[in-house]
This record gives sequence, C-alpha cells and structure tokens, in this order.
Amino acid sequence: MRVIGTGSARPAKVVTNAMLEGMLDTSDEWIRERTGIVERRVISSERLEELAIEAAKRAIEDAGVSPADIDYIICSNVVNEYVTPALSCIVQGAVGAKCACVDVNAACSGFIYALDMADDRIKSGKAKTVLVLAAEEPTRMVDWSDRSMCVLFGDGAGAVVVTEGDELFVSRLTTKSMLDCLYYRRRLEPTPYVETEEISGPMYMNGREVFKTAVLSSSRDISHILKEAGLTPSDIKYYVLHQANMRIVDAIANYLKLDMSHFPHNVEYSGNTSSASVPLLLDTLSREGKLQRGDKILMSAFGAGFTTGACIVEWAK
Ligand code: COA
Repeated sequence: MRVIGTGSARPAKVVTNAMLEGMLDTSDEWIRERTGIVERRVISSERLEELAIEAAKRAIEDAGVSPADIDYIICSNVVNEYVTPALSCIVQGAVGAKCACVDVNAACSGFIYALDMADDRIKSGKAKTVLVLAAEEPTRMVDWSDRSMCVLFGDGAGAVVVTEGDELFVSRLTTKSMLDCLYYRRRLEPTPYVETEEISGPMYMNGREVFKTAVLSSSRDISHILKEAGLTPSDIKYYVLHQANMRIVDAIANYLKLDMSHFPHNVEYSGNTSSASVPLLLDTLSREGKLQRGDKILMSAFGAGFTTGACIVEWAK
C-alpha cells in the first residue's frame, strides 16, 4: 500500500499544566519533567465523531479522491459515546462513502493494526482505496481528580487514505496479555441473571510497568523491522512514535543512538492521544512539508493489551 492523503482534527479546548495546578496537587515542573507535556487538547463542546469526520474529510481531500472511490474504512478507537454502531459507520455516512466499515480496538497501537489490515485488504485485491483513521478521547476514561492519570492524556483524530503500492516495507504486530498493567472496565446494563460482581471505574494504569514495557517492546519492534527491511537506524528519516511520554521517545532515541532530529514529537502540545497520536503527527509532518518522496518513515506504538505495532513506509505522496 501507499499513503496518498493525511488529515487530522483536534478539540478546541486547550488545558495547560497551569490550569491543572489550579485543580490538582501537581505542578507544571513535575508534568514537564516526567512527561514533556505542556498542554493538551481536551473534548469539551465537540463530539469525538465530529473530530473523526473532520480528520477523514481532510485526508480524503488531501488524497484527491472522491468518497465514492473509498472501498473500505477502518477506524481505530477505544471508546466513544456509541458502543454500536462502530465509529467507522458514522464517518462513512458523513463523508458520503458507500463501502464496508469496521472498527478495531488495539488500544494505542490501533492505528498500526488498522494500517496493517488495510495493506492485507489491498494485497488480497478486495479493496483498492482504504480510509484508515484513529479517533480517541482518553480524557473520558480517566479520573480527573487523580493527578497521576489525567495530566497525561489528550483527545484527537488522525486519518490517512491508502491505495495500491509497494511502499509498506514491513510491519510487526505483537500482543501479550497483561491485564493488570492497563485497563478500563465499563459496567453493562443489569439483567435479572447476572451473578458476578461487576467492576467499573476510571482507567487504571501501572505507570512504571507501562513505561518499562513500552521502551523495551518498542525498541525490540524497531530493531526487528529494521533488520527485516535490511535498513540501518539512520536510513529512517523520521521515527513517528506513539506520543505517550517524551521520556519514552528519548529512551528509544538513545537506544538507537540517533540524534533527536529523527524523532519528531508533539506530545508537549497534545498529551497522549492514544492511537490517534501517530496519524496526528504524520499529518503535521506532511502539512509542514517535512516529508519528501522516498523518505523512509518508521511508525511504532504500544498500548493496553499489551499490544505493539510497528511498520516502515516509504513516503510517496
Ligand atoms: N503531579 C505531582 N506528583 C505526581 C503526579 C502529578 N501529576 N503524578 C504522580 N505524582 C507523584 C506520585 O504520587 C509519587 O509520589 P510519592 O513518591 O510520594 O508516592 C511520585 O510522583 C512518583 O510517582 P511515579 O508514578 O513513580 O512516577 P513516575 O516517574 O513513574 O512517572 C508516569 C509517572 C505516569 C509519568 C510514568 O510512569 C510514565 O510515563 N509511564 C508510562 C505511561 C504511558 O506511557 N502510558 C500510556 C500507555 S499507552
């Protein structure tokens, strides 16, 4: 497959560290030092589906295709107001596409899983042009009185349009069941028959465990796919990494012994936007004219599950 268009959308509301200092026992210094985050965009008057639709429309426009040309939509999403139908179905109607749609939930790695599925769909000949998007509102999963969680996240949506081509070199997806490290459970409707205790509450995360696992697994994935593609770390123009924490990006850069010019980042202004972080950053790079034809881009993400996904694409837009 080949990426032919990108788009993104972020909520209007900016929540700065200073604003959080006013409501929590935290400090700008603590948040910056531990995460690199300065501010994040948070859903307020918008709905997530509106951001998803906006990102999708921008990617379709950028690709120069008609909605009628799209023959599959895959949306990565963890939560939104609708449990059903899938967010991709809502986007389909709003952009005027007529194709089959599906949502995937691989947590923060979801965009890479969705891209990989799109590649398979194209390779099998079942689709020619696929809209792949990620739309996330993790700020609706955390407890806003818990300083260790709410400072980390932001909301947003990113999208790409992909079509036939040979520009996806390699991809690697891994999953290791690690429920205790990161989860969010929702209470379902009661029935007269349910006898088990149902637990619900805000998202839980063992930050230290996630940090360690993220650095190790992402570094391992990157080494693996570089080797498979026959490339060295410096052959990659940009490592578009999941924007969860600047210290994780720094640790991976250190591991690869590369200078930070290979590691674009926006976590400082977006917070962790879950699976939307990779396509959001990709769209920014593309619109700022930082990507040239032939550039090799490595994307890598990790998230609840524990899932990881990484791939290398050549820029051919
Ligand atoms: N402001 C001030 N203090 C805070 C705080 C905040 N917002 N959040 C936590 N603290 C405190 C803790 O209460 C703790 O205090 P104590 O030592 O008195 O108990 C102290 O800071 C250290 O907490 P700890 O959780 O050990 O900090 P840390 O260095 O591990 O940093 C994270 C916390 C969450 C930033 C870090 O673990 C991390 O980035 N993990 C990965 C998260 C991630 O990437 N998640 C996304 C997965 S997709």
